[in-house]
Amino acid sequence: MKKLRTRIETIFNIKEASKIFDEAGEIIRSGGLVAFPTETVYGLGANGLDAEACAKIYEAKGRPSDNPLILHVADYAMVKQAAAEVTPMAERVLAAFAPGPVTVILPKRDEVPQRVTGGLLTVGIRMPDNDVARALIRAAGVPIAAPSANRSGRPSPTTAAAVFADMDGKIPLILDGGPCRFGVESTIVDCTGERAEILRPGAVTREMLAEVLGELAPPPVLREDEAPRAPGMKYVHYAPLAPLTLIDAPHGKVGAAFRAAVREATAEGKCPGVIVSKETAEEVAGLVPSEHIAVTGGAGDLSAMAANLYEALRSFDDKAANVLFAETVEEAGLGVAVMNRLKKAAGGRIRFYN
Ligand code: TXA
Ligand code: MG
Repeated sequence: MKKLRTRIETIFNIKEASKIFDEAGEIIRSGGLVAFPTETVYGLGANGLDAEACAKIYEAKGRPSDNPLILHVADYAMVKQAAAEVTPMAERVLAAFAPGPVTVILPKRDEVPQRVTGGLLTVGIRMPDNDVARALIRAAGVPIAAPSANRSGRPSPTTAAAVFADMDGKIPLILDGGPCRFGVESTIVDCTGERAEILRPGAVTREMLAEVLGELAPPPVLREDEAPRAPGMKYVHYAPLAPLTLIDAPHGKVGAAFRAAVREATAEGKCPGVIVSKETAEEVAGLVPSEHIAVTGGAGDLSAMAANLYEALRSFDDKAANVLFAETVEEAGLGVAVMNRLKKAAGGRIRFYN
C-alpha cells in the first residue's frame, strides 16, 4: 500500500468548515478513505456502494474480509438506499433511537456490494448522532461504510489522536471532532427475524429496546463450536498491547483484591498497570506508580467508564506496565456493553476474589 501523508483537520464549527467537507466528500466519492467522529467511536469511512473503495478499509485496518461493514446514513431516505425492506421492527427502533448509537440489520438492496456485507444478504445501517459525521455523509451524498478506525484487534479509537496512532500513513484525512460521547460502539439489532435480536450490546440497552419492541430474542449463549451471529464477534478485539486480566470482587472488597493482584504480580517481577474507578485508584496509590493507574471515573459511573475505557486501554501502549488489571462493573444496563468489551479485551481472563 502506498504511504500517504495523513492530515488531521479539526472541526470547530460545521458552517465554517464547508471547504473541508467539500474536500472530504470528494475523497469519499472518488474512492478514498476519511476517518470521522461519531457519538460512539471514530469510524474509517469509504463509499458504501463502491466495493473497491471498501476493499481499502480492510487493507488499512488489516481486517479479515469476511467481517461485514455497516453503512452510515444521514436520514431516513438514505436508509432506503441501502435496505431492500425496512421491517416494522426496524421502523420502531429507528423512530425511537435514530439518530443515535444503534445499528439495525436489514435485508440489503442489490446496490450494496456483497464485498461490503462479507457475502451476507443483510446489511447493518446506522444513523449517527454527530454533526461532523452527518455533514460528511451529506457532503459525500452516499451511504458511508465505516468500521471503527482502529487497526484490527486494537481498542477502538475515541479521539482523533488514537485514530492517527493506528492510521498514520494509511489514509489521507482525519476529521477531528473531539472525544466521542458514548465511547462504546453502537448496539447492533438484527431486525430480520421473528423477534429482534441484540448482536452486540451498546448504549441503547436491552431494557430500552424492550420498551419499544416488547419481547426480544434471549441473549445468545455461545457454545465454543458455534459460529457467532455478528461475524465480528469471533475475532480478538479491543486488546491492549500488555495482557489484561479482569478483577471481580464483591462490594467493599475491590480495593483489597487489587492490592493482592498488584502485590502478587510485583513479587513475580512484573510491572502491573491498573484500569480502575477513582475509589480503587486511591486504594492502590502507594503500590503502583501513578502513571500506571488509569482512572475511568467514579465507582458505578457507567457512562464515564464507557466513555473512557478505550483511551484507558490505549494509555498503556507507551508505558512500561507489562500486565494490566481492570475493574469489572455490574452487567446491567450500559454495564452489559462495558463488560462485553472488557471481557474481549481480556480474552476472557477473569480472576474472582471473595
Ligand atoms: O458504533 C459503531 O457501530 C461504530 C461507528 C464507527 O459507527 N462502527 C463499528 O463498526 O463498530 P465495526 O465494523 O467495528 O463493527 C460492526 C459490527 C461487526 O462486528 C460486524 O461483524 C457486524 O457489525 N455486522 C455488520 N454487518 C452485519 C450483518 N449484516 N449481520 C450481522 N452483523 C453485522
Ligand atoms: Mg470495530
